[in-house]
Amino acid sequence: MKLGMEYIAFAKEAIKNFFNTGNLIPSSQFLSTKMCEQVRRYSPVATPLIIEVGAGTGKITQQLLRYFNEAKFFVFEPNSSFYEILQKRVSQYRINGKVELINDCVERFAEENNLKSDVIVSSLPLLSFKKPVREKVLTALEKLMHDSTILVQYGYTPLTGKFLSKRFEIINKSFVPFNIPPAIIYVCKKRNSETQR
Ligand SMILES: C[S@@+](CC[C@H](N)C(=O)[O-])C[C@H]1O[C@@H](n2cnc3c(N)ncnc32)[C@H](O)[C@@H]1O
Repeated sequence: MKLGMEYIAFAKEAIKNFFNTGNLIPSSQFLSTKMCEQVRRYSPVATPLIIEVGAGTGKITQQLLRYFNEAKFFVFEPNSSFYEILQKRVSQYRINGKVELINDCVERFAEENNLKSDVIVSSLPLLSFKKPVREKVLTALEKLMHDSTILVQYGYTPLTGKFLSKRFEIINKSFVPFNIPPAIIYVCKKRNSETQR
């Protein structure tokens, strides 16, 4: 899909349901690259099991596939229009690992599975969620983590960090100016897990 078409498709869905989408346009190349760099730097293993939540049209997914071509992925996107674009994008990659795309919210999967991932990459719009939804989603992410799992989450204001720090230990913060809007990336671990290597 051409970039302009992707932006129009994204904006259309965002206007329909801004609370679940959190932005009018997909993430920039700068943000997706920096997210991957943070995963590479802090992942507890070289070939991690990666859960991506809120994949949207796949801007971060495609970069993750380039960086971690051997990894195993579970990728969640509940919006069916985004999911269709995501499927097409992922199908264009030659992947040595395994990618499972799931057209659903992450909470249901976390309730029904005991899987623990090494890395969670999240674009979830935590600030737009109503409090009970946010708490449910954060509980789901926590359940999918073992003691060394890293959660890499971006947000547009320091309030995202405030929500995360209630549940997780923030081990790194970085600022990405070249994104609309500029973003902050948080790398988190479960509380009381092993201290930063
Ligand atoms: C800000 S968009 C990010 C899209 C893409 N990752 C990017 O950075 O361009 C957030 C995405 O989270 C998805 N989302 C919302 N609630 C979710 C949930 N409970 N589980 C998984 N994804 C969810 C939305 O459908 C939306 O596509």
